[in-house]
Amino acid sequence: MSRKPIVAGNWKLNKTIKEAIDLVTQLKRLISGTQNVEVVVCPPYTALGEVSEVLMESGIHTGAQDLFWEEKGAFTGEVSATLIKEAGARFVIVGHSERRQFFQETDETVNKKTRAALAGGLTPIVCVGETLSQREGGKTFAVVGAQVKGAFAGFSADQMGRLVVAYEPVWAIGTGKVATPAQAQEAHGFIRKEVGKMFGDEVSGSLRIQYGGSVKPENIAELMREPDIDGALVGGASLEAAGFADIVKNAGIAALK
Ligand code: 13P
Repeated sequence: MSRKPIVAGNWKLNKTIKEAIDLVTQLKRLISGTQNVEVVVCPPYTALGEVSEVLMESGIHTGAQDLFWEEKGAFTGEVSATLIKEAGARFVIVGHSERRQFFQETDETVNKKTRAALAGGLTPIVCVGETLSQREGGKTFAVVGAQVKGAFAGFSADQMGRLVVAYEPVWAIGTGKVATPAQAQEAHGFIRKEVGKMFGDEVSGSLRIQYGGSVKPENIAELMREPDIDGALVGGASLEAAGFADIVKNAGIAALK
């Protein structure tokens, strides 16, 4: 089953509107002509509209970093799928470990947000991953398995077929300590198997699973060579156009395996 690789940049709380426009203007030039990788950048909400405009018809997509599940109403500070889509985005990250850690997100809120994103016509990138103590305690599969079950509980195969999963081991995020290809593959294979149990082989076989955690131009190719790794969710290395472009290009070359 062929899965088009997807590389997304999660800018987190970085970049003014001007900096964001500069970055994507360069990026557009650097990766023009890249065809076998889907590319997404996820700026802060404030820059989403302008960045989407710069990238219009470039083939590079935009995404938000979070959303709220309600459509509208008295929810101060929140943003809905409709507003994100109106700003020009096609994707939205859901359940990033930083949101789970600092903003009390749970598998239940991840489930509601993912449903809302799909209902609003966005492609959710749903994040799962264990902490260092969970890994060291031998709980990786239990934790990631519970996150997958919780995030997608009650979903139809059609819904599951319209999203992307990102495996981001928390101990690899922003630490420079990338998971080995074997460690990442083991987790990705596990996630695909769990999704297969819930939704069948056809859905799990076409599900794209990104790896995230200290991805750099130097390590993307070896990760991408693993059979169940279908791209990357990149933090720090997506903040600079040349480095992110190299990740996209190297992912594309490795995908021609
Ligand atoms: P780093 O690439 O900075 O480790 O961040 C990964 C991440 O959290 C992407 O969502």
